[in-house]
Parts: sequence; structure tokens; C-alpha cells
Amino acid sequence: MSKLLDGKVALITGAARGIGKAVALRLAQEGASIAFTDLNYDDVAKATELEIQALGVKAKAYASNAANFKDTEQVVAQIEQDFGHIDVLVNNAGITKDGALKRMTEDQWDAVIAVNLKSVFNFTKMVQPIMWKQGSGSIINMSSVVGVSGNANQTNYSASKAGIIGFTKSFAKEVGARSIRCNAVAPGFIITEMTGQLPEEIRQQWAEKIPLRRGGIPEDVANVCLFLASDLSSYVTGQVLHVCGGMNM
Ligand code: NAI
Repeated sequence: MSKLLDGKVALITGAARGIGKAVALRLAQEGASIAFTDLNYDDVAKATELEIQALGVKAKAYASNAANFKDTEQVVAQIEQDFGHIDVLVNNAGITKDGALKRMTEDQWDAVIAVNLKSVFNFTKMVQPIMWKQGSGSIINMSSVVGVSGNANQTNYSASKAGIIGFTKSFAKEVGARSIRCNAVAPGFIITEMTGQLPEEIRQQWAEKIPLRRGGIPEDVANVCLFLASDLSSYVTGQVLHVCGGMNM
């Protein structure tokens, strides 16, 4: 039986763990070959690579700093050589360095903007010529509900995620005529290592504010990415899809 992403190649940034890993596995389940990056090719990345390969698709992990333009140029060229084409790009790599603005350092600001926002520029810029040549492609940018609604102590993070939304809409307008789609996903409170660091009390407070009364799991986000990656969403571009249990309406 044919699968949704048979013959497609997906590139996912920061996918050794968390949401990126769940996206990689979900796209692989639907037949996509997977190239993924993370900061290091360590035991975690190797284990993820094996887990994806066990689904019977080609999968390869690459060590690359998504915030670094030169690194990105090199890794995308290498992936094009190894896989031949790139049909789906998921800009997922992201970090938090939270704090009230009065205490936020310049380094905290710069790091979050570089990893979360500049990485989207880096990878989209490098992948665009490949998709342009093909006359097709789907780009999915991992934003956040806080990029829409804001969040105290996350001015840097919210600004980066709001920036991603502006980027997504602008790029969708630039490349729509070439059948390249670009959408953003805005997850709410998803239980991963990033949010696992929060105290239990804070996590409880979040859950109470969510109409579906639970934090999300990475697979909730991965299913929406599958929709956006596949032809099921062939007439959807420039949109922000909230995956937040109804927290943002
Ligand atoms: P995570 O911390 O579990 O995983 C992030 C991965 O990105 C890690 O493997 C990390 O090594 C990698 N990474 C970090 N900096 C990198 C860089 N410069 N280059 C390449 N890889 C890098 O985080 P999680 O929760 O899976 O988040 C994934 C994305 O989803 C992020 O963009 C995050 O902002 C976004 N998000 C997460 C939410 C949550 O509740 N967990 C909510 C909304 C958005």
C-alpha cells in the first residue's frame, strides 16, 4: 500500500530528541527518507538515527549548528549529495534562555534569536534553490503559541517565534507561484526535555489553562507536521497551525 510520503526526502533540524525526533519518526512511518541535524553526533543522535532506520527508510544524522550560516551551507550541500533532493524542510531546532528583561543579558538575547530565528533563514535560504529547481516543496517552521500571545520572562523566545511567523508568511508569498508551501506550527505546552525542566507546580498551572486539560505530547505536533509535509495540505500555505489543546484560540 502506498504511503503519504513515499519517495520524499525530509530534512529536520534539531531532531535528536523531543519534537524533532517525533516528527522524524512520523514522517519516516509514512515512507520519507530522513536527514536530520543536531548540535552533536552523540549517542542520543545515533540512537535516533537507528530508530528511524528500523522503520525501513534511509536515515542519516548530521552534526551541524543551525545558527551558523557556513555550517548550514555545508550540511545542506552534503545532504543534497547524499539524498539527491529535499522535499520537506522542518525548521525545528530551538532553545530557551528565559528571564525577566531587566535581568536578561545580551548573550541570552543573541543566542535565542540566533538558534531559533536565524536558523530558519539559514536553512530555508540553502534549501530554497533545491525546491525551486524541483518546482515543489513544503517548509514547516516550528513557532510557538507564545510567538502569538507573548509570555512573561520570554521576550527573547517570543520575539524569535513571532519573527518566524513573519518569515513564514513572507516566504510563502515569495515562492507560492513555484508550488513551494511554507507554514508554521505553534505548539502550546508540549512535554519534552525543554519543558521537563519546569517545576511540577508550573506544569500543573499550565494544564489547568488548557481546554483539553493536558500537556501535549511530541506526537501531537508530529501528526500536524505530517499533514503539512504531505499533499493532504496541498492548498495550505502561509498559515500558523496552533497545536495547543485549545490554549490559544
Ligand atoms: P528539545 O530541547 O527537547 O530539543 C531541541 C533539539 O534541538 C535538541 O536535540 C538540541 O540539541 C537541538 N538544538 C539546540 N540548538 C541547536 C542548534 N544550534 N543547532 C542544531 N540543533 C540544535 O526541545 P523541544 O521541546 O523538542 O522543542 C523543539 C522545537 O519546538 C523548538 O523550536 C521549540 O522552541 C519548539 N516548541 C516547543 C514547545 C514545548 O512545549 N516543548 C512549545 C512550543 C514550541
